[in-house]
Amino acid sequence: MSKKVVVIEGEDAAPEAVRPTVELIEKMDLGIEWIYPPVGDEGIARHGSPFPDEARIAIDGSDAALFGATSGKSALALFYLRWGKSTYANVRPAKWRPGYRSPQADPRGIDLVIVRENLEDLYMGIEGDVEDLGAVNLVSAFTGKPVAEMGPGKYALKVITEQGSERVARFAFELARRRMTRGLPGRVTCASKYNMLPQTDGLFRDIARKVADSYPDIDFNTYIIDDFAHRLVSVPQEFDVVVLPNLYGDILSDAAGGLIGGLGLVPSGCYGDVYAYFESAHGTAPDIAGRNIINPTATILSAAMMIEYLGFQEEAHRLEKALERVYAEGGILTPDQGGSATTTEFTKAVARNLS
Ligand code: IPM
Ligand code: MG
Repeated sequence: MSKKVVVIEGEDAAPEAVRPTVELIEKMDLGIEWIYPPVGDEGIARHGSPFPDEARIAIDGSDAALFGATSGKSALALFYLRWGKSTYANVRPAKWRPGYRSPQADPRGIDLVIVRENLEDLYMGIEGDVEDLGAVNLVSAFTGKPVAEMGPGKYALKVITEQGSERVARFAFELARRRMTRGLPGRVTCASKYNMLPQTDGLFRDIARKVADSYPDIDFNTYIIDDFAHRLVSVPQEFDVVVLPNLYGDILSDAAGGLIGGLGLVPSGCYGDVYAYFESAHGTAPDIAGRNIINPTATILSAAMMIEYLGFQEEAHRLEKALERVYAEGGILTPDQGGSATTTEFTKAVARNLS
């Protein structure tokens, strides 16, 4: 049976990375049916909404989605792909490959994956006026004074649940186990600010530790998030799978991208129990929109993760290898990697290496 993939190209330069990626996958003849529901401006033009029912129904009827990046216009679609489809584990690999322009003196052997909890933490969308906290009489643990008396200001709510932490931790351990079959060390690192936030971030760490007990074959360690940030930059080769609460995962997955050579290189996949969607970790790159120079590597590698999820393991591997060869040869690279090739030229080079 053919697999159905919803494509949401996103805005600014993102479609320039998504289109050639879809063409590339098409060349592999996997029999994928691509569906382009109207979202963002097109949704507004056709149905008066940036995320009309037609788009939601298309997602519900698909096996996976490929998402470009959004400047905000297709944000509702992204939110549906996350919270509507419960895609709780955001997997962001940062693997250095020869040819990637890393700022590290010696990037060899960097091969880590950040597993970011994708639905909780400060991503509640709950913010408000500090004075409203008077109604619940909250007192700061540090000043001993009511928060409402701090004067005009805003607050945001952070929520970490047992179930949310447990399922993402389990996902991280399962991933570490699968990576062991590829010679990786079988190591999970959990980081959070458990010293200052003993309840929320403490819970995240405690649950990861509990899950670790059922994976005696996997090494487990924890760091306070600031210490982890330092180690990520100074000894990145020490990490295999890293499980983080949502906001730290958002921030540090960009940092991990910088480590291997930039955001143009890092893919991302968001997995739930019954659905997954794939997107580059980068934004829409408005500064280079329309110039056909966006590096499509992040999108191509996200698509590789997607076809693997859809059951095409060997093909995913083949695509990664084709891309690796283009970097190893080094003659056809986009400007962010020190080359002068266009997005189209780069993607064509990957396609040539596929055959
Ligand atoms: C990401 C992005 C998103 C996030 C934005 C676009 C909402 O930065 O996927 O990392 O914060 O999760
Ligand atoms: Mg981000």
